[in-house]
Amino acid sequence: MTQRIPFSGHPIFLGPLAESLPGWLDEQGYSSVFLIADKNTNRLCRPALPVQSAEAFVVGETAHAGIPMETLKTLPSCEAIWQAMFEARLDRKALVVNLGGGVVGDMGGFCAATYKRGVDFIQIPTTLLAMTDAAIGGKLGVDFQGAKNAVGVFQYPAAVFIDPVFLKTLPARELRSGFAEVIKHALIGDRALWKKIQSMPAGSLAATNWGGLLADSIAVKTKIVAEDPREAGIRALLNFGHTIGHALESYFLKTAEPLTHGEAVAIGMLCECPDAAELAETILHFFPHRHIPETAFPDLWKLMEQDKKNASGTVRMAVPDAEPFSMRWVALNPAEAFGRLQRYNLLSK
Ligand SMILES: NC(=O)c1ccc[n+]([C@@H]2O[C@H](COP(=O)([O-])OP(=O)(O)OC[C@H]3O[C@@H](n4cnc5c(N)ncnc54)[C@H](O)[C@@H]3O)[C@@H](O)[C@H]2O)c1
Ligand SMILES: [Zn+2]
Repeated sequence: MTQRIPFSGHPIFLGPLAESLPGWLDEQGYSSVFLIADKNTNRLCRPALPVQSAEAFVVGETAHAGIPMETLKTLPSCEAIWQAMFEARLDRKALVVNLGGGVVGDMGGFCAATYKRGVDFIQIPTTLLAMTDAAIGGKLGVDFQGAKNAVGVFQYPAAVFIDPVFLKTLPARELRSGFAEVIKHALIGDRALWKKIQSMPAGSLAATNWGGLLADSIAVKTKIVAEDPREAGIRALLNFGHTIGHALESYFLKTAEPLTHGEAVAIGMLCECPDAAELAETILHFFPHRHIPETAFPDLWKLMEQDKKNASGTVRMAVPDAEPFSMRWVALNPAEAFGRLQRYNLLSK
């Protein structure tokens, strides 16, 4: 059964696509549909889409196998997408459908929000990470000069359609990656969800029935975004783990062994958490230990200095406070950041 998740920002449907998407599309009357997928979602998810579109752009179609999609979340890819939209003669009454993880959603949304000053788009997330976090709330953008999400806009999607069926083909590593954002939501706003997570056995993710956990996790995100859509205050809390996490993600993206977004955020939460003992147990239970070479630190610090949350030259992190949905800012200096990475032996010579 498809449920409509209460949120003032934009419609969110959770359940089988066939129950919600075709009817919604009929009601809207768009002039045409332009699909954006990546090469995996094009192959694995597009056949199950209850809407056909002649025009499509596939991110990474010609890239070699194994390349992280994140390396394609860039302005050159946007240019290729805008070009395809242009060639398809999309008018301003067209609808862009983003079928994929956070990369397709962030970048496809950005392209739609800027093409001809903006056409409508919907998010159909296919990763756990995008279902619980990236597809919701209208933060769109791409990486620039190696810095995460450095160019982008806020623009709500016309709707978000979340069908957990897509998780069936998602690789285990990607499922675990998304789980980091579920953990984040639990830590910042839902103690009951946190208790549920703590009782989950490590090998259990693939067998998990995500419906209920997704609804709980999404509820934390929507509550925060509804309160603060443009990140003037409490929405910064959704960046918990991301000051250090984004730096790690960007740094490792250029190496032979990239981290996924969620893996980087999991380490980031561990480093940023005021009292990490309880969290460490869960993170180290689900996520593998990753050594970070000490020589990486100057580069990591430079990346932290680029973070969008910084103000007046201070690097700062938004961390959960004692009460659910409360936060405080913690300033970071290089020695402090180094020390936090040293915790749990993450740094090695
Ligand atoms: N906008 C936001 O609010 C927000 C929030 C959190 C994260 N993000 C962004 O999201 C991105 C990470 O998203 P992600 O983790 O979804 O990564 P992703 O989009 O790179 O997808 C991960 C991998 O899974 C594959 N894949 C996707 N769906 C699949 C499926 N159903 N079956 C098989 N394979 C599938 C993709 O092709 C890709 O290789 C980062 O760029 C991050 O910055 C944005
Ligand atoms: Zn994130």
